[in-house]
Amino acid sequence: MNSAVNEAGEGIDGSNLTAGLGSSAVPARAGAKLTKVGDLVLLVSDRGKRHLLRLEPGRQFHSHLGSTRHDDLLDLPYGTTVHSHLGHALLLLEPSLDDRITRIKRNTQIIYPKDAAMIGQRLSLRAGSRVIEAGTGSGGLTIALAWAVAPGGRVYSYEIREEHVRVARRNLDQMGLLPYVELHHASIMDGFAQAGVDALVLDLRTPWLFLEKAHAALRPGSFFAALVPTTNQVSRLLLELEKGGFADIVVEEILVRKYKPVPDRLRPDDSMVGHTGFLISARPVVDPSEPRRWLSEERKRYEARKALNERIAEEESRRAEGSDENKRPRPKLP
Ligand SMILES: C[S@@+](CC[C@H](N)C(=O)[O-])C[C@H]1O[C@@H](n2cnc3c(N)ncnc32)[C@H](O)[C@@H]1O
Repeated sequence: MNSAVNEAGEGIDGSNLTAGLGSSAVPARAGAKLTKVGDLVLLVSDRGKRHLLRLEPGRQFHSHLGSTRHDDLLDLPYGTTVHSHLGHALLLLEPSLDDRITRIKRNTQIIYPKDAAMIGQRLSLRAGSRVIEAGTGSGGLTIALAWAVAPGGRVYSYEIREEHVRVARRNLDQMGLLPYVELHHASIMDGFAQAGVDALVLDLRTPWLFLEKAHAALRPGSFFAALVPTTNQVSRLLLELEKGGFADIVVEEILVRKYKPVPDRLRPDDSMVGHTGFLISARPVVDPSEPRRWLSEERKRYEARKALNERIAEEESRRAEGSDENKRPRPKLP
């Protein structure tokens, strides 16, 4: 049985085999989706603790709230309240994509769901898309990409460090998404093995170094994105994208503010996820020799203003020099 624990000490569970008690009887509802053997399910305590587990006959889920037999969680409609052998209530849910991304074992800084969601949007992913990703890291973004392109699509994910590939493979397997992912233990310095893909995303420190290779792997007119944490990296990437045959460039920062769901006292949470990264997206064009035509309006306006200011400064210094020439007394010749 696979078993993983995230930073909070919670995670996919199923390895505890102590005695336990069953679930409450729930009347079946038309159209309800029932749990079955092999399902990844979420148990949420009434204090908000979330536990992921894969249902296997004969196994037992165990936490500080008591234990629950997996057999008692089978054939129940999602949304059912079940009870541990100590009588504590647990809500049985289908794990969301957020639950899957945030509860994996992590070796690296993993993607935040807000950024993963916008990357999917900017890459215009859908079932059947073929998408390249680098680096894989712990596989957080890979999970979101595979979720979007399954069942007909494919994620080709590249990672330079073997230990990260191992962890990502296990995470993807536990989330049931490995069939949609091809993991490459390789540096993208050596390029990509695929061509004509629908989208490509770089989540690594120096994306500008790989634009030529990204352009070669992408279908012209398709979708490119990169995530970087600092504005210096954004500027560097922008300059290289402009040179490298990419158009329709967009820079964004994704901010999400949660609210305390108290109807009579509705207000934002006291803290929020501050800065995570900047998302840069662009479209590869067929003819990389004409990128300046496709610069953004703001960029073109800035360039025009800069050129005008330079001309004015030149003219002013020329005039100043000319008038100084006329005013300055000429040295007397011996
Ligand atoms: C910020 S982490 C990616 C995190 C990942 N998106 C996630 O959600 O778990 C960056 C990863 O890129 C990998 N990397 C850096 N340079 C690379 C290269 N040239 N080729 C492939 N992977 C690379 C690093 O080893 C690291 O695992």
